[in-house]
Amino acid sequence: MTASNTNNAHRNTIFVSDAQVIEQHSFSGDQHILRVAAPECAQYAVAGSFAHIRCDTDIPMRRPLSIMRANKTTGEVDFLYKVVGTGLRALSHARPGDTLNILGPIGNGFNPNKQHPRKLMIGGGVGMPPIVFLSEQLHQAGASLENSLVLLGSEVPFPFKQTTSAIAVQGIPDSTTDSMPELESIGAASRLASLQDYTGCYQGYVTDLAAEWLEALPPESLKEVEIFACGPEPMLKATAKVAAKFSLACQLCLEEFMACAVGGCAGCAVPVYSNEGMAMKRVCVDGPVFEAHAIYPEL
Ligand SMILES: Cc1cc2nc3c(=O)[nH]c(=O)nc-3n(C[C@H](O)[C@H](O)[C@H](O)COP(=O)(O)OP(=O)(O)OC[C@H]3O[C@@H](n4cnc5c(N)ncnc54)[C@H](O)[C@@H]3O)c2cc1C
Ligand code: FES
Repeated sequence: MTASNTNNAHRNTIFVSDAQVIEQHSFSGDQHILRVAAPECAQYAVAGSFAHIRCDTDIPMRRPLSIMRANKTTGEVDFLYKVVGTGLRALSHARPGDTLNILGPIGNGFNPNKQHPRKLMIGGGVGMPPIVFLSEQLHQAGASLENSLVLLGSEVPFPFKQTTSAIAVQGIPDSTTDSMPELESIGAASRLASLQDYTGCYQGYVTDLAAEWLEALPPESLKEVEIFACGPEPMLKATAKVAAKFSLACQLCLEEFMACAVGGCAGCAVPVYSNEGMAMKRVCVDGPVFEAHAIYPEL
């Protein structure tokens, strides 16, 4: 069944399904990785799109979660989330074999530009899933990730086993060695950042690490860079500032509060700027990915 009250752009591509929980793993910092069987959602999911999940039959409001991975062959969809309150707490209790009602995939994802072969992908906290998805999507599409870089930031231990990277990256401090193994295995260089004193991580903001890498690139390589980011609002703004400083194209995935998530209530509307001026856009169906200069025109 498809959601009936979506706008035309998303008609027939947002599905309501009873998805079976395949597995759920917990990590420190109340982080969880959930895998469900949702074949229609998996079929149409793109990096940046999300699902609206009924966490418990007793909790009427669904919770939006970005899709971290979608396997079109097996129909499995992965989410990474951090518990904030009652909804995601209930979701963390889901066990293999349970059924979850899922609405998705929703939203327009990242739109990588082939003119910019060097992708700088930045994920902060629960903004990591769309960035992981984007790098895996690029890899599956046959794009070379040789000159690209994924930077992940977290203030709680990373929800994966940090691995020393075997992929050398110029312009990154020698002590910043650690990477995400899933990205390493597809040949995508990644590095980790945190203000906490985590071994192998850059000590500072992930956006400062991004700026260090950009600073070290020769001018002809710098011109090839395009930035993608998802994370908390201050991180998105800092990313937009870095993009403006180096005159780079940049797409941001917003994670605004939302209610219906299918374009009907305008509860997620944000001001978006273009040459025609400002217009209120719904993050759920007009986004959640927007050009950085359309969100932060003052930078
Ligand atoms: C498009 C999108 C993608 C997201 N992707 C992820 C993700 O991949 N992983 C992850 O951990 N979190 C993600 N979030 C944030 C996540 O949806 C909220 O943290 C979650 O809704 C909080 O629910 P709760 O039951 O734990 O907290 P509660 O405090 O019980 O939630 C109370 C109410 O506030 C709303 N709410 C609270 N915080 C947020 C928020 N930041 N955004 C939207 N609604 C909120 C809930 O929907 C609910 O209605 C995403 C949000 C959006 C909009
Ligand atoms: S949440 Fe209702 S229009 Fe976006």
